Amino acid sequence: MPRLGGMREVTSAYTVSIHYDRRLYRQDIAGSIAHARMLAKQGIIDDDDATAITNGLQEILQEIEDGSFEWRPELEDIHMNVENRLHEKIGEAAGRLHTARSRNDQIALDIRMFAKDAINEVLDAVHDLRSSIVLQSEANITAVMPGYTHVQRAQPVLFAHHMLAYFEMLGRDADRFRQAYDRADVLPLGSGALAGLPYPIDREFVARELGFSRISRNSMDAVADRDFLLDFQSAAAICMMHLSRMAEELVLWSSDEFAFTRLSDEYTTGSSIMPQKRNPDFAELARGKTGRVFGGLMALLTLMKGLPLTYNRDMQEDKEGFFDTFDTLLATLTIFADMIDKMHIVPERMREAAQGSYVLATDIADYLVDRGMPFREAHGVVARLSEYAVGRGVQFEELSLDEYRSFSDLFDEEVLAISVESSVGARDVPGGTAFSRVKQAVVEAKTQLLSEQGAESDS
Ligand code: ARG
Repeated sequence: MPRLGGMREVTSAYTVSIHYDRRLYRQDIAGSIAHARMLAKQGIIDDDDATAITNGLQEILQEIEDGSFEWRPELEDIHMNVENRLHEKIGEAAGRLHTARSRNDQIALDIRMFAKDAINEVLDAVHDLRSSIVLQSEANITAVMPGYTHVQRAQPVLFAHHMLAYFEMLGRDADRFRQAYDRADVLPLGSGALAGLPYPIDREFVARELGFSRISRNSMDAVADRDFLLDFQSAAAICMMHLSRMAEELVLWSSDEFAFTRLSDEYTTGSSIMPQKRNPDFAELARGKTGRVFGGLMALLTLMKGLPLTYNRDMQEDKEGFFDTFDTLLATLTIFADMIDKMHIVPERMREAAQGSYVLATDIADYLVDRGMPFREAHGVVARLSEYAVGRGVQFEELSLDEYRSFSDLFDEEVLAISVESSVGARDVPGGTAFSRVKQAVVEAKTQLLSEQGAESDS
């Protein structure tokens, strides 16, 4: 039988990872330089060799950055590409770099370093989005909108209160990313292939050189562990889930049906045949891309679940999903920060929606409770009242006092003063939507962002 694919090319291509793991070049080279310095300091290799190695590696870094480095797929991965080039440059001394090291602890080191930098970038982007949210909240602090449950208008709330819910969600995301950072911040180098090394190495020195706060305690765990990637990917999945919910609201709010917001032209596109349309493509794509981020988490969990200790080649498959998750999340956060920033709010429409429905029903029930009626009974009265109002096609505000009193004689003219504003104002409890509470929440949010900025630039 003639073969359809050239079998030889397929077999060699199967193991190659250089087309994606070359992204780790900076980490790989920095790790090797620190390792070579440690080997020389400990007298494991001599100083001249270490100098030749570090100079050679620095040149290779240059070559990669200016685009002159020739990537060779037949050398499979980033480690072998760099090491081979070092041989070409400095000859025999290059062979001493891999003393007291294995690709197993080397790759674990590279991804940990990459993950730490990636998490810092994500944290900055989360910070920026949270800032946009707070600024929009502040700029529209008096806007009232219907709050929803089941996408049914439920009770009036401040738009700022609604937005600050996302500030909270993203604050928890930031916490999760900081935890993921802490788990990544452990130096695995010095574990060798799996059992440790028969050389007098100084792991603490390497940790300091590379900015790790501590070293791994078990060499087998160190080469077999990818929990820090799972931490990152699960934090990313939850964060994308939040962004996707926000995306969904932006899609709804910018529809003609809601018309609460107008997204800036940069973040909408026209239709080729329906010129009136402003499709919220960026929000929709964010909602869609959430799927691939969830997929990345699922892929990595599945990849790891059946692996015996320690390193297995399966683990090479950890990287593409991780990079894709990082790229997708960072782009989404960055776009959302700008999209929220430039979003135009239509407070009149929000107010209209809050007014033009029966969102004050709970307030009327609370009014009766205030006058001594048990809540369950009040609920029944207001249910009958609503039925009556809906039947006549009028709003609560349009009912006369006599009409109210035909449902309960606890009603007096104060019921006519119940409004969207009085409803919002009444929710004056910690965490409630009253104007003063939300104003205070904005102040606290800004303080939190400022303190984070200080703390994160210190680290
Ligand atoms: N390319 C490999 C990976 O990404 C590097 C480690 C290879 N180690 C080994 N023993 N084959 O996982």
